[in-house]
Formats: sequence, C-alpha cells, structure tokens
Amino acid sequence: MGAAGMPGRVIAAQDVWKSYDGREEVLRGVDLDVDPGESALVWGENGSGKTTLLSILGGLEPPSRGFVEVGGREITSLREKHLARVRLLEIGFVFQTHRLLEDLTLEENVALPLRLAKRPAEARVVELLEVFGLTKLASRRPGEVSVGESQRAAVARALANGPRVLLADEPTASLDPKGTAAVLDALRIARENFGAAEVVAAHDSGVRTLEATEYVLEDGRLRKRA
Ligand SMILES: Nc1ncnc2c1ncn2[C@@H]1O[C@H](COP(=O)(O)OP(=O)(O)O)[C@@H](O)[C@H]1O
Ligand SMILES: [Mg+2]
Repeated sequence: MGAAGMPGRVIAAQDVWKSYDGREEVLRGVDLDVDPGESALVWGENGSGKTTLLSILGGLEPPSRGFVEVGGREITSLREKHLARVRLLEIGFVFQTHRLLEDLTLEENVALPLRLAKRPAEARVVELLEVFGLTKLASRRPGEVSVGESQRAAVARALANGPRVLLADEPTASLDPKGTAAVLDALRIARENFGAAEVVAAHDSGVRTLEATEYVLEDGRLRKRA
C-alpha cells in the first residue's frame, strides 16, 4: 500500500525522489495533488527535473522512492503490462512538439489511442475534432496545418480515451503567440469539457496566462509559488 491520496484527487504524488543510475537526486521529496478540472503549472529552469517529474506521474519512469496515485490507484508498484494499460486509458501526454504521425491525417491521429484500446472511434473522434475546432482540417496531415493546429490535435489525441490526467511537457515552447493561445485554449477545454486534471511544465513565459495553481521546481523540491 502506498500514499494516502485524498479521495477525489486525480493525481497524488507523495515524497517522490528520483536519481538516475545512483547519481545525484533530481527530485528530492516532491508532493503534488491535483483535482479534476485543476491545472498545476510547474515552472522550472532547464534541467530542474520537470520532464522527470511528468514521466514519473505518467508511469513512464519509476521513482527511486515515494508514491504516485492516478485516479485513486497507486501506479508505482504496477507491473509494466498494467502500467501500459493505465497510460493508454487514464493518462494523456502532450509534448513540446506534437509527435503526431506524419503519414496519418489529423482524424486518424486522434483515433489512434481508441484503436489501440480496441474501442469504437468514430463518434468520439468527431466530437473531439469539433470541440477543438479541427473538423475542417480532419483529413489534412500534420505537415499541412499550422504548428498550433497540430498541437491542438495532439491535445485532442491525448484525450481520446477520456483520461483523467493530462500531462503537458512545455507544450507551447515551440509556438508563436497565436499557436500558444490555441494550445492554452485547448488545455482549458480539456479541463472544462473533459474534467481533466492537468500538470503543465514550463520554463518560459508563454503559458503565463494559463489559469492554474503555480509551483516552482528548484533543487529537487516543488513549492507553491507565492
Ligand atoms: N534518462 C535519463 N538518464 C539520466 N539522466 C537524466 C535522464 N533524464 C534526465 N536526466 C537528468 O536529470 C536532470 C533533470 O532533467 P529533466 O527532467 O529533463 O529536466 P527539465 O525537463 O526540467 O529540463 C538533468 O540533469 C538531466 O541530465
Ligand atoms: Mg524537459
């Protein structure tokens, strides 16, 4: 048994430590709780451990110590097979670049997680494209739309299976102001329309207007920003 995440909390991390290969700790006792529909914005310099923290919250990387609960389930002790299932169904990832498959249309990209989960895709994909303002671009490929539109499609894809958690690692870092605004809007939709709990990592000012609980990651510790 692990941490006592509060009921209703979608993400509950308790005393998370991480060192890679026994080297100096990148994370030194991080606690974080995020509610449904809440966005936690994690500020930190390059190399401060933002990607490490998101990887641990998303079950991509094990912590050296500590516990993580997603949707009330402790994931740190799950075997890889179960973890893969949790990642597919409960957690959406958005990265600095959209990471869509270039040979697939936006529609096919958004459908991909549903296909992997062997779920009916059509109605869900139509809904997602509509909500994210991508219906007219559905049959275009990532190379045929703007970077901001691709990133919006990436958010739509991340939400395909209705995950409770959305993890976004510097999602606006490679975007101009217009693309940034589009992505921040997509993150707001994810919270408001889909009730996702979000953790958004950033090191620049692009996401400043995001409505969020703000934290700073420094020296391996996460503290609430005053
Ligand atoms: N897979 C890894 N193996 C070894 N060291 C890593 C690995 N990933 C990150 N690190 C180290 O951990 C520290 C934090 O990196 P990272 O989490 O990527 O920070 P950020 O995302 O804030 O830039 C850095 O010193 C980095 O070199
Ligand atoms: Mg990073």
